Order: sequence, then C-alpha cells, then structure tokens
Amino acid sequence: MTSNNNTDFLPLHGTDYVEFYVGNAKQAAHFYKTAFGFQSLAYSGPETGNKEKASYVIRQNKLTFILSTPLRPNNEIADHILKHGDGVKFLSLKVDDATDAWHQTTKRGAKSYKEPETLIDEFGEVVISGIHTYGETVHLFIERKNYNGVFMPGFVEWKSAYNPKETGLLYVDHCVGNVGWNQMNVWVKFYEEVMGFKNILSFDDKDISTEYSALMSKVMSNGNGYVKFPINEPAEGKKKSQVEEYLDFYNGEGVQHVAIATNNIIETVSILKERGVEFLNIPESYYKTVLDRVGKIDEDLQPLQDLGILIDRDDEGYLLQIFSKPLQDRPTLFFEIIQRKGAKSFGKGNFKALFEALEREQSLRGNL
Ligand code: FE2
Repeated sequence: MTSNNNTDFLPLHGTDYVEFYVGNAKQAAHFYKTAFGFQSLAYSGPETGNKEKASYVIRQNKLTFILSTPLRPNNEIADHILKHGDGVKFLSLKVDDATDAWHQTTKRGAKSYKEPETLIDEFGEVVISGIHTYGETVHLFIERKNYNGVFMPGFVEWKSAYNPKETGLLYVDHCVGNVGWNQMNVWVKFYEEVMGFKNILSFDDKDISTEYSALMSKVMSNGNGYVKFPINEPAEGKKKSQVEEYLDFYNGEGVQHVAIATNNIIETVSILKERGVEFLNIPESYYKTVLDRVGKIDEDLQPLQDLGILIDRDDEGYLLQIFSKPLQDRPTLFFEIIQRKGAKSFGKGNFKALFEALEREQSLRGNL
C-alpha cells in the first residue's frame, strides 16, 4: 500500500452516467422519458454502425442514463439480461485522466474490465477505461475534457418529436450495492484500498432490523463526497432479508438503488406520481410522531404525508426522501428521490418505517 494517504490518487468529478442493460431499450427509453421526464440526447445502433447493440442516451440536468439492449443472442449483454433481468451494468465516473485512473486502481488490485481506449470523431476524443466491482457491475472512467460532441464518439444526436417535461431530477446522490453474506467488509476494503474511498457511516443489524428482516450497511465516499456508494449485506432475522430477496432474483450482487437529488421533492414526486411512478406506501402512524423526532421543518406536513415522503434529521440538517417500487418485474432495482436540506446522512431514522413497508411488498410476492 502507498504510504501517502493525503493525496487523492483517484480524483472524481461525480457520476458521468449510469448504463442499464435492458430487454427492450426502445421501450425503456420511452418509459424513463415519459415517467421521469428525461430528454433524448444520443443514440447508437445499427444505423450508426453498431451491429451488436442499441443504446439510447437520455438526460435530465446532470443525470445521464444509457439504456442498452443486445441485437442478437450469445453475447455479454444478452447473457447479463438472462441472468439478472434489467439492471445497472456501468456506474461510470467522470475523471480528468482515464489512463491514470486505470493505472492507479489496477496497481492497487482492481480487476481490469477495459484498458484505456481513446475514441475519436470530428468533435474530439473521449478516453474510457474500466474496472470490475461487486457482481458483474463495472466502474468505467470517462475522460471527456477534449470532447465537445453531443455525447461521445459512436453516438449520434437523438432528436425526438416527443419531449415530455422534466420533473426536477438533478444528479445522482448515491448508488447502493447489495452484496452477499459476509461480503460487505470485502467491498469496503476494495473501495478503501483500490479507489481511496473512506467509510463515512456504518449501520449494523441493530440499527436496521425490524421484526423480521435485517441488513448491515457501510457508506463509502470518495474524497470530495461527489461519489457515495453504500454497501449492504443481508443479516439474520426471523425471516428472509430484503437483501437476500434481491440477491435471489438478481442472481448475484448488484446495484440495489440509485438515489436521485431534487430541489423540490414535493413538486417532483407529485409529477412522478401523476405519470404513473409507484412508490412504497407509508402508514399514517408514521406522520403522527415524525415531527417529534425531527423537529421543525420548512415544509407543511400534509403534502409530505399525502405523497408518502419520509423525513429524517442529523447534526447538519434534515432530508426528505421517498423510495419507488421496483422498476421491473424482478424485485431488484429501485430509485430513491432525495432532497437534502443540510443533512449529509441517509435516513437512518426512517429505516424501520421503510423496511416495514418493503416487507409488506416482499410478503405480497411470497418472498418473506
Ligand atoms: Fe439511499
């Protein structure tokens, strides 16, 4: 290990994009545009010379998603979807130097996914490299400082006549990984040693247990705090942990949820609900005592209760958050919508109410 712990050997400028492998990218792109208000940005597929896959790039503020699907069987993407269903393949990180990011991480033990490659077109160049993380998930390092095209070489601008209004989604706040039994500390060590992250918060099974299911979690953050990866593992409870249900249906470790920031959660969630996005239901009893726990907040309680938005406070302020139901038929990936008003934590005070809501859904699926 290096003895100099003070310099950030892997400076990150946040999430560049999240790429999903899905069964039908055309329909998925339509869903994310319609329901969440993403805008069409770029496209790659057979018409642009890509014979293997079709990819739709959509964007809202600093939030960029790619929906990709294979055009034929017997390839890496088709195998991924067969095994995992729709899910997150790439958590791509913005860097100044993708070659150095690859060298710094692989020399510390990361398994290479992709050696640095320079992609060039008439708008400049993008350098991409990548390393494996938990399950079949990959971190790509994206260097685009010498590029001024619409997305990156290989993609063309996607102009669409259909442009639903945005919903106030701003950027990725954090991305949570679910890993297997006794694997949390393995991946905590990976993020510490290979990527120079720090463990900023920990929750054990006493913090995160309800009558039935339990999990443990540690939050990993990079130096500037732009990239935060909480890592969950299941814990023993009376019945099956929600993390175990995920591992069963995803067929392994993977991304459990992507948390997306907004500046006005009441407005954002109102629009998302109108457009058919489903969220976990929170019992009325939660709202009878929540203000005793969190104290005074700027918002009226009634709209928060009507929408099922949760509230929590830490030393630095408070936060408002809500969790969607799974975004596909398998009970795997979901989204969190979060508005931070000073708080830098993750809603520990809501775990009990949240997990009871999750368990009601898990029970309906016969998996509790
Ligand atoms: Fe979260």
